[in-house]
Amino acid sequence: MYKKIASIIQDALPHKLITNTEIEQLLERPKYQHLGDIAFPCFTLAKSFKKAPDIIAIEIGNNIKSDFIQEVHVVGGYINLFLNKLQVTRDVMAKIMIAHELYGQQEIQQKNIVIDFSSPNIAKPFSMGHLRSTVIGNALANIAEKNGYNVIRVNHLGDWGTQFGKLLVAFQLWGEKERVQQSPIEELLKLYVKFHDEAETNKSLNEEARSAFKALEDNDPQAMALWTWFKSASLQEFKQIYEQLHIQFDTYEGEAFYNEKMQSVVDELKKKQLLTESDGANVVELEDMPPCLITKQDGATLYATRDLAAAFYRQAQYEPSQVFYVVGNEQTLHFKQVFQVISKMGYPWSGNLKHVPFGMMLKDGKKMSTRKGRVILLKDVLKEAVETASRNIEEKNPTLNNKQNVADQVGIGAVIFNDLKNFRLNDIEFSLPQMLNFEGETGPYVQYTHARIHSILEKAKYTSSNEVTVMELENSAWEVIKLLQQYPQVITDSFEQVDPSLIAKYVLQLARIFNKYYANTKILVEDEQLESRLQLCFAVATVLKDGLKLLGIKSPESM
Ligand code: ARG
Repeated sequence: MYKKIASIIQDALPHKLITNTEIEQLLERPKYQHLGDIAFPCFTLAKSFKKAPDIIAIEIGNNIKSDFIQEVHVVGGYINLFLNKLQVTRDVMAKIMIAHELYGQQEIQQKNIVIDFSSPNIAKPFSMGHLRSTVIGNALANIAEKNGYNVIRVNHLGDWGTQFGKLLVAFQLWGEKERVQQSPIEELLKLYVKFHDEAETNKSLNEEARSAFKALEDNDPQAMALWTWFKSASLQEFKQIYEQLHIQFDTYEGEAFYNEKMQSVVDELKKKQLLTESDGANVVELEDMPPCLITKQDGATLYATRDLAAAFYRQAQYEPSQVFYVVGNEQTLHFKQVFQVISKMGYPWSGNLKHVPFGMMLKDGKKMSTRKGRVILLKDVLKEAVETASRNIEEKNPTLNNKQNVADQVGIGAVIFNDLKNFRLNDIEFSLPQMLNFEGETGPYVQYTHARIHSILEKAKYTSSNEVTVMELENSAWEVIKLLQQYPQVITDSFEQVDPSLIAKYVLQLARIFNKYYANTKILVEDEQLESRLQLCFAVATVLKDGLKLLGIKSPESM
């Protein structure tokens, strides 16, 4: 609609002073409905027009002619437009009835976007931070696809690094094979914690760990065998979580994948005279930030070295137009350093690399930590969410079909939505009762609205057709229509701003506005507008379902 309005305004200009896109960016939504549906502020035109904004507004306003515009009100430097409700309604409804869930789908771009997300560390529990990365990354991937991009979902597993030296030593000293087999992550974490406790008093342990990691980097078969086992056991647990969340990756190329690929980066850094020696270690000096450590005294590589190798590999492999790293904001410096190293090497594509940071998950205002004994296991959290959803169903709708499935979808949906409704940089509070509240700003509220519409359509034995029979609907429907018409814009905004919360807020609002309409309107009345109302219901359900799907949330048909 903004595109359409922009071209209508363009036609009203005396000559092409600004582009349609610029007009589109200037368009605003008036704060109050009685002021109009869309406003065009003329202030920035004053220079090129060499006239006062209110004069410009009158001149352009007088020129606006279109079926889509009912009325033009000029107020100061603003042109306030009232849309022709019937035209707009027909236009929006026709689009949805033809496209269904493809409504809002943007043109195919022939461009790749790599999204590096989730990326947990093996032999450690899947943390709340990794959950955030997982749901934000997955939503961004879906949103990028809806915006016409080809997405490569990469799980950059933390499967390499000095911590594995510690784990190897700990396992050799205190490990029991059977226990690790039974619950790998729990046992390995215990071993890791024990290592740290013991190393406080026994300093030689750290030395042993260093040489164990060296053995690993040198492909020592015994060390490799243990590492391979730890990795596959951890992956098995992680994959259960991904299955529960319905999340898939195109590759699990983690840190270890880059072992053979780092040397060429180090060589190139040397050749380009970017490496400096500092106490036997090699670093790249950077502007406005601490140097980036590339190799340690003993030659061991680092997290940053592997990220450099990964960036080069992905560039060669996918030629991505953008790479998103969905990682907590505590790693901001790390990514700044890596990106600057690549830029210093002379690669302009370093500008396509983007850290997408997010805040912390809090419980009772405190960080949910996997250390310090306050261990909160994600699988327990998800289990609890599903159980709570299950109890709600037993209470409200005990005869529901397929209860377990619905409880899964609602419980998991609640956890995901609670995360994504917030701007990602904000810290978020984890409270199950709050996120499962059917009345609040929650996933279940949106899911419930969708299911309710479904049951209305079912009662009416509605079958969707591509033919639009919409006529003038009640005033309360107009609010719904205007929101439906905004959906494609929300899709592009959420991609451009790398912000899934725009979609979450949108579906909440659509659900709320629909429920308001539903409270004021009898839908299932046999009159000549019945079909129009049913089509409106169908359109809302379609968009709610698609919006939730972009967020990675299922829409049960009854609940
Ligand atoms: N495994 C890391 C961690 O848990 C996150 C990896 C993020 N991706 C990357 N390319 N560095 O902190």
